[in-house]
Amino acid sequence: MAAIEQRRPEDVLALPLVDADGIASLVPAHDRILTPAECRQIAVEIAGRGLWEGVELTPTESHTRAYALLYEDERIEMWVLSWLPHHSTGFHDHGESNVGFCVVQGTIVEQQLRFAEPPCELALAVGDTRAAGTDYIHCLEWETGSPALSVHVYSPPLTFVGQYRYDDEGILRREAQSGRDELTKD
Ligand SMILES: [Fe+2]
Repeated sequence: MAAIEQRRPEDVLALPLVDADGIASLVPAHDRILTPAECRQIAVEIAGRGLWEGVELTPTESHTRAYALLYEDERIEMWVLSWLPHHSTGFHDHGESNVGFCVVQGTIVEQQLRFAEPPCELALAVGDTRAAGTDYIHCLEWETGSPALSVHVYSPPLTFVGQYRYDDEGILRREAQSGRDELTKD
């Protein structure tokens, strides 16, 4: 299998204007990979303290979503993502990473893929959160807000993701890709 290109934030993002010291203080003192609950708690803290508010995001009406890296170290990374009409991640997993996230503006809709059952759908409004481990396959889409915004925390950093799409024969396929490539439905 071909190697997956690893992208650095400076390759794809403008550095955000955020309270870097404030965000770094949220990282637990232990040296373990963070649990889903710990990821979620950090997302809630970022949301509650408004630490995402200085981020330079330039949402467009195009298919491309805007996102910015708030913080990263060897165990964790934190992002703010923007959502506009027609934006959708498609179904994906988070590779080896745990995840927690919190909606900070507008509304997004989550569908979670489940075995032998239809996907469950959940509307997530400001303050709503999700947290999950490596068995989590979901799709996020814009619902309201101009833009909708959400804060996402991953541990370990989101090196690879699995993007799920149907092939021409109707078989669901998983394609591994860099965690810093944009996820898309099509
Ligand atoms: Fe995700």
